[in-house]
Amino acid sequence: MKFFIDTANLQEIKEAASWGIIDGVTTNPSLIAKEGKDFKKVVKEICRIVNGPISAEVVILDAKGMVKEAKKISAWHKNIVIKVPMTPEGIKATVALKKLKIKTNITLVFNAQQALLAAKAGAAFISPFLGRIDDLGYESGIVLEEMMTIIRNYNFKSEIIAASIRSINHVKLSAELGAHIATIPFSILEQMFKHPKTDEGIKKFLDDWKKAENN
Ligand code: E4P
Repeated sequence: MKFFIDTANLQEIKEAASWGIIDGVTTNPSLIAKEGKDFKKVVKEICRIVNGPISAEVVILDAKGMVKEAKKISAWHKNIVIKVPMTPEGIKATVALKKLKIKTNITLVFNAQQALLAAKAGAAFISPFLGRIDDLGYESGIVLEEMMTIIRNYNFKSEIIAASIRSINHVKLSAELGAHIATIPFSILEQMFKHPKTDEGIKKFLDDWKKAENN
């Protein structure tokens, strides 16, 4: 399973990348806006830190405009993947971008039917929003499982990115269901390391070691 980090914060990306287990980065307009920095500069800097797919989203809603924007953004670095929304225009743009060999990540996917359309259009990545699916009162695990079945049934090449991850349980669920990738906020990545028994065990080992040294 690949881990992407879901943030545009350079400090968080640097820190997580230093662990050696980050395969890519996803951003969205909200995450970029939160940093209050120039979009191009941030995306280029992210590409310098992580050598893997870096998702940057278009903010134009018609296919022609999306393709134009995608061409501009993808020229910034070879690892950039263009995030497009799950709409008929987004699908149209995905088909056109595939012909131009520009990879897409279809975002804001909430059910298996939408994922099927995205796979059919040839999206390199498809992002179901687990947390937001749960917010609606649906079971994100069931929705993700349906998507994985469809992808496997037809051997679609699209990779499913479990997105809108809100807990370490979402990460485990995504791994159990075989999602190719989970894109995880920094705070959740940090939580994945933690267990009180691990901390307690380390303390005990060090205390015992010190005692023995003092003998
Ligand atoms: C990533 O591709 C998505 O933009 C992100 O995971 C959305 O997460 P949110 O629902 O917590 O905003």
